[in-house]
Order: sequence, then C-alpha cells, then structure tokens
Amino acid sequence: MYFELTESYQPKKILFRDENIKEIKEVFYRFKNFNSPKNLLIHGFSGSGKTTCINHILSEQNGNYIYISGTQCITAHQILRGITDLTYNTRERLLSEAIIKMKRKPCVIVIDELNKMKRVEEIRWLFNDLNTLYRETGCSVIIITNKNAIETEKIIPEDAKKTLFLNKIEFKPYDAIEMKGILEQRMKKLECSIPEFFLPLLSSKIIKEYDGSIRSGLFILRECIEANDFSGERINKILKKIKGEEFEENFQSFPEHEKKFLASLIILGEEKNQLIAITTIIQRLKFLLPQRISQLINSLESQGILIRTVAGQDKRKKYVKFIRDDIYSMVNDLTSNIIPLEIG
Ligand SMILES: Nc1ncnc2c1ncn2[C@@H]1O[C@H](COP(=O)(O)OP(=O)(O)O)[C@@H](O)[C@H]1O
Ligand SMILES: [Mg+2]
Repeated sequence: MYFELTESYQPKKILFRDENIKEIKEVFYRFKNFNSPKNLLIHGFSGSGKTTCINHILSEQNGNYIYISGTQCITAHQILRGITDLTYNTRERLLSEAIIKMKRKPCVIVIDELNKMKRVEEIRWLFNDLNTLYRETGCSVIIITNKNAIETEKIIPEDAKKTLFLNKIEFKPYDAIEMKGILEQRMKKLECSIPEFFLPLLSSKIIKEYDGSIRSGLFILRECIEANDFSGERINKILKKIKGEEFEENFQSFPEHEKKFLASLIILGEEKNQLIAITTIIQRLKFLLPQRISQLINSLESQGILIRTVAGQDKRKKYVKFIRDDIYSMVNDLTSNIIPLEIG
C-alpha cells in the first residue's frame, strides 16, 4: 500500500550522504581510468543507508561490477560461486575460474552484509581469496558491514590487509533532524497526512531510545499509519515489541548453560530484579565452581545483561543484578520454561 515506505523502494534522492557517495564513486572512477585502484571497507550501523547508497552508485556503472550480498552467501565458497556463477565443489577451482573471469572482464567486486558471515574462519578464507583475486587481476573490492571496522580488521589475515589496503569509510549515525528529513521525504509522494508533531517525535525516540536506524523509523511509521494512531504511547508500544523480539532472538542464541544460569538467578533474586550477592550465588549453585560463575557473569555482563556492583559500606562485597528492569522482565519471561541449575 505504501511502497515508498518499504525497503524495496530505492529513493532517487539520498540525503546527507554526499561525502560517502563521493568517496565510493572514486573507486569506480579510478577503476575506469586505470588509476591506482582503491579498495574500501564500508561500515556503519544497520539502517544507515549503506545498501541504498551502493545501489544508487551501481545503477550508474553500466554493469561494471559484481554485487554479492551476505544475505544469500554466508561462506567463502558461496561468495566465489556468486562471483563466478559456477557451482564447482572446491574453493580452489572456483578461485581460478574467478581469476580467469575477472581478467577477461575486469570489474569492481562489491560484497554487502559481510556481517552475515558468522564464522571467523569463513571471513579469513574469503579475505585470502579476495587477496589472491586482487593480486592477480587488480580488480577493486568494496566490502560492506554493519560491524565495527576495527573488530573486522582484526579478523582479516595480515597478508590480505597489506595487499588490499582497505580504506575505511564510516556511515555516521543520523541525528534526529536528519532522520526526520529522510522520513519526510518518503512521505512526500504519499496521499496521507500525519500530524506535524509526529515525525520529530518518532525520530527523536528512535535516536534516543533505540537504534537510530531509518529502517526502524520506516517500520514504525508504517505501523502508525496503518493503525491511524500517532500518539507517543503507540510508538512506545511498538518500540517495546521490537526490542522484545530482538532480545529474544539474541537470547535464543545463548549457550544452554548461560540460559540455565540466568533461570537460576531469577529464582535467587526471589522474582525481583534485586541485588544478589556473588557469595550467595557461589553457596547456592554448589555444582558450579566459583571461577565458572565468574566466567558466566563476565560473559553476561559483556553482553549487556548483568552488571556487577557494590552496596552499602562493605565495598569488597560484590553483587550482581540485571542491568535494567526491562531486561530482567524479558529474561524472566524467556526462562520460564528453562530448568534452572540445582539450587541448594
Ligand atoms: N540517507 C538516506 N536517504 C534516503 N533513504 C535512506 C537513507 N538512509 C537510509 N535510507 C532508507 O533506510 C532504509 C535502510 O537503509 P539501508 O541502505 O538498507 O541500510 P543499511 O544497508 O545501512 O543497513 C532503506 O529503506 C533506505 O531507503
Ligand atoms: Mg544493508
């Protein structure tokens, strides 16, 4: 119904990304003019317009590129199949075919959504392959990810890092005014009126209380138009629902022992998000060694679930609690059918 508000719509005008677009276009410019080739690592949070910008640029390149997305390819092997359009079983064979193909018809290789590749070995293999391909053919590569660039670079093998010499390009977060501008632009062609206060309210909420993504902005906008309800409460309700779904997805990927540990903490906290002394955890979860408990707390703390803290006079006595009450209640719901560890 509102095609302009969906992901499939490619905006003709991309706002606030002129600098980024200019830098990306230079890769193609240099490539066409046999100037020294340039390779990119584009990074920025999800919904910051990376795919939209690259699509916009590619549409002007007369097909002189190969675009592969991590949404369909999550292994190095699959990416090589995508590059060559062949289905050989070994990476070696595909790589030599890719070299032949790229020598015959040089072009820029774009790999979007690298973040979908979860296995570190796969990413390493991919970069080794890209390294060989680049050395043999001189064809530029553009890698796009929503993961932190420094973390990504740590995974790339040294040799590939030296040869590819990736230039990092960051898609910076939008501020509330920019987000409002982008959403307003999308509303322009629609025959649908919304109260004037709504887009500024929605934009500032998504930026302050959630992920700052235009994708989320468009989603909530669609929901509110459909319900014909433009109140702050409606936005809060939708935000709560998406945060809950996102948390659940994340929670389901936790190892079983972390889930059981969390289920046990819910019981030890007496069904409230209260401070639980670490000594109490050690005493009552008697089948877990103190070091193991400490490891579990560390891991859950680094994932933004728990927090260690002190209370009262005795600063040596350490406690743990859920970092926020909403996290507590989501974990409470999600662990309701998980058998906790044995509590003494
Ligand atoms: N600067 C922008 N101008 C217009 N639309 C944008 C802009 N940035 C993002 N969008 C829109 O937001 C949505 C998500 O953008 P996308 O490019 O898929 O993000 P990413 O690839 O960074 O996750 C798309 O529907 C896109 O049209
Ligand atoms: Mg994308």
